[in-house]
Amino acid sequence: MNINKKSIGTNLAAVSGKDVKIDPESHYDNWARKYENELLNEYGYCAHIIASEALLKYETRKDCEIIDIGCGTGLVAEKLISLGFLNITGLDVSSKMIAIAEGKGIYKKLYKKRVEDLDNSINETFDVLMCVGSFGMGHIGPESLKTLVDFVSQGSIVVIFMNAEPFALQDYNKFIEKLVSLNIIEVIAIDDHNYMSKIDRPGKLIIFRRR
Ligand SMILES: C[S@@+](CC[C@H](N)C(=O)[O-])C[C@H]1O[C@@H](n2cnc3c(N)ncnc32)[C@H](O)[C@@H]1O
Repeated sequence: MNINKKSIGTNLAAVSGKDVKIDPESHYDNWARKYENELLNEYGYCAHIIASEALLKYETRKDCEIIDIGCGTGLVAEKLISLGFLNITGLDVSSKMIAIAEGKGIYKKLYKKRVEDLDNSINETFDVLMCVGSFGMGHIGPESLKTLVDFVSQGSIVVIFMNAEPFALQDYNKFIEKLVSLNIIEVIAIDDHNYMSKIDRPGKLIIFRRR
């Protein structure tokens, strides 16, 4: 049985719809301890599975260097490791989410950083960028797409999964087309997926290749 928006909990409600007014650091610090139980068990969250399985189609090197932006508690890395990927670095603004990810011992390295405050302190280039559930209102904005693409080397795959509502409202297509027109990326796919099996939660799976 699907549950409607009225029955979602306060943490998920605060990051839903048009009017998201959160500070991501404090919101996810407060949510961290209950995040996985709520998302996985109450709502059937599966964006990390959709995105990680999509990567398999485009990246065959299991030893490639992957950066997981907005890594949260590490669901994406857990799935990637189960698929055989070996080298995953994480980045997130919430120290409490990162602490849970760190406790799993699955990341090669973890950075506590806000994407908008990135400077040259991360002096590494990656072969793949994953960003699942971390673009959206009150989260990472579309103007950061270019910043993130700059993390990966030429020919690398970028996999983004995000809620469909901010994708439309913040006109992500416009930002993506701009990067295409500047010959920075080639779009491989933009597909629709519901990403919570127990509620209606439309999402977009976006796959680029860095030119
Ligand atoms: C919905 S969670 C997704 C976590 C994980 N990727 C997953 O699939 O479970 C969003 C994550 O993005 C992080 N985040 C939001 N805005 C951010 C920003 N501007 N810079 C860095 N991390 C951010 C939050 O702290 C949170 O851990």
